[in-house]
Amino acid sequence: MIPILAPLEANLRAAAKALAAGELVAFPTETVYGLGASAGDALALARVFEVKRRPFFDPLIVHVSSPADLSDICGTVPDLAARLMEKFWPGPLTLVLPKSDRIPDLATSGLPTVAVRMPAHPVALELIRLAGPLAAPSANPFGRLSPTSAPHVQDAFAGGIAMILDGGPCSVGVESTILSLEGETPVLLRRGGLSREDIEAVIGPIALGASVADLPQAPGQLAGHYAPRTPLRLLKSAGGRGKFTGPGRFGLLAFRGVDISGSGAPAVIEVLSPTGDLREAAARLFSCLHRLDRAGLDGIEAESVPENGLGAAIMDRLRKAEAGSGPNPEGV
Ligand code: TXA
Ligand code: MG
Repeated sequence: MIPILAPLEANLRAAAKALAAGELVAFPTETVYGLGASAGDALALARVFEVKRRPFFDPLIVHVSSPADLSDICGTVPDLAARLMEKFWPGPLTLVLPKSDRIPDLATSGLPTVAVRMPAHPVALELIRLAGPLAAPSANPFGRLSPTSAPHVQDAFAGGIAMILDGGPCSVGVESTILSLEGETPVLLRRGGLSREDIEAVIGPIALGASVADLPQAPGQLAGHYAPRTPLRLLKSAGGRGKFTGPGRFGLLAFRGVDISGSGAPAVIEVLSPTGDLREAAARLFSCLHRLDRAGLDGIEAESVPENGLGAAIMDRLRKAEAGSGPNPEGV
């Protein structure tokens, strides 16, 4: 079993040493756990793709501990990026910027741009300070549910990772929002832990990534992703319990809680947020799905949530979970 270590200084130093030796370390961020490799080490990056069974066309995010780290990673940093970093870093916002040639092509899948983010988690920041910038995808096998706790990572991999640093449950719970600043107009490539509304309040209207959807620029744009092994069906209406049509036991992922009565009641119920708070719902989304996926159910029904604020990121994950659920999701 991959060891889970408390985030003590000695363990952080051991993790930095492992990273310097080309090994992989899973670490906590405020969004989800990352599977980190030293960003300049092409061999270690290759291991990330291998361990995750991730296709090479899908580039990684480089994690930094300060905007100053970008001087080695990016070509130029546009004024708009500087404004966004000032306002939202550290935090769940990834920026796609022109890349410098110090970053191996493997990290960016040969693209002329690199995705960068400064996570808002003390363990991640300290690890990056000790080890340097880390290229890290989410620490789950490609296409599967994202990990929001150290045990989620431990359960998902048999080996290939030196250690998992335990930073407790992730406070945001969905991946970072990805914004491309490659062209004149900012383009939202993935909805995530920072809402579109919050970004637009600072820089005005942004375009949606649909215009770039023909290339899989973010696996968020592949249909099946973030998926449980148990078949999942998304219910159209918020708050309503659907009728599970398949045979056997089913579980319900409820938004605010449900009144269960009569026949056809779900065997297991997970409630995202009893008060209907979308931040709480996002933070709990993947842990609820992991529990439902392990409950030995024949199916999962998930209620829709309102699509404002973080609700847009939650619905994006649920739609992809529905498309990719089952024992053999797309891409694995
Ligand atoms: O919250 C997060 O972003 C987490 C934590 C660990 O930081 N990381 C994460 O990484 O979600 P991952 O690999 O699961 O998703 C990274 C996304 C991918 O969809 C990838 O396609 C996109 O970032 N990406 C990376 N570089 C890009 C680039 N140069 N242009 C466009 N998209 C890029
Ligand atoms: Mg991922």
